[in-house]
Amino acid sequence: MKPPVLVTRPIPTPVLVRLEEHCLVELNAKEIALSPQELTERLRGKMGLLCLLTDRIAGGLLVSAKELRVISNVAVGFDNVDVAAATRRGILVTNTPGILDETTADLAFALLLSVARRVVEGDRLIRRGEFREWNINMLLGEDVFGKTLGICGCGRIGQAVARRARGFAMRILYTARRALPGDVERQMGLSYASKETLLRESDFVSLHLPLTPETRHYITRGELAFMKSTAYLINTSRGPVVDESALVEALRTGRIAGAALDVFEDEPRLHPDLAILENVVLTPHIGSASRETRTRMAMMAAENLITALQGMRPPNLVNPQVLMK
Ligand code: GLV
Repeated sequence: MKPPVLVTRPIPTPVLVRLEEHCLVELNAKEIALSPQELTERLRGKMGLLCLLTDRIAGGLLVSAKELRVISNVAVGFDNVDVAAATRRGILVTNTPGILDETTADLAFALLLSVARRVVEGDRLIRRGEFREWNINMLLGEDVFGKTLGICGCGRIGQAVARRARGFAMRILYTARRALPGDVERQMGLSYASKETLLRESDFVSLHLPLTPETRHYITRGELAFMKSTAYLINTSRGPVVDESALVEALRTGRIAGAALDVFEDEPRLHPDLAILENVVLTPHIGSASRETRTRMAMMAAENLITALQGMRPPNLVNPQVLMK
């Protein structure tokens, strides 16, 4: 008999077909997240769960999911899953690393360029019917080429952003828990800096950190105070990495020049002031949202799930401790 699995949202058809070859799929066909109660009920008797980063897989939810063997998250980040609780229950958790780096870096760079060159403000101005004639002082932004970019968290996505920055002749600083090997730094034109130095010297600060207890509010009032008043903050990682109230305050008072955000502290709720500030570019968590990448992510999640249910180690396991028990 095929193992029963729950898929929490519509996924690309080829991925569904692949899953159905191996599993008995129950699909939530609505584009609306299941409530915790619905999730609990629908997880009963399921051996696998394929979920999205907007599904909160709390420990309590797993109590009645007695048959569950694998939680396959369609995302590289897995802060939406209580991994410790899953590990205690012997449930494997998997993610989708590596395949979304370039796509996410593209968006980080698109946001950087948009906020520096006031692209979205320009769009709004035209739509309001206010483009009457070319004006030498209209919508003056900042140059990007030759400026200093500070990358916080220089893993795969941070490095993909750095590759783009080189094309803009930028000086690239990075900060991370561990410095990269010297030859990688040299090859990529990266210089390690302390967090404070990076914040003080960068014209653009781009965040590429996973959300963990240590990185929650990585940027708050103190960090914003180090930044240049002409600098911009770009966040394509996770909203709670930034203390949003402190950021709003810094944007309102001109402490920093602007921000471009793809993620929010209490997503999808928006801090009311972010919507009215002109020096902010906002996108709805679309870092990995290209047709190709989203399909690849869903397929990778399906393969993780299938492999785990076949009793093998899934390729992208985040809690290998389960297998050591
Ligand atoms: C997207 O935010 C992801 O973690 O994949």
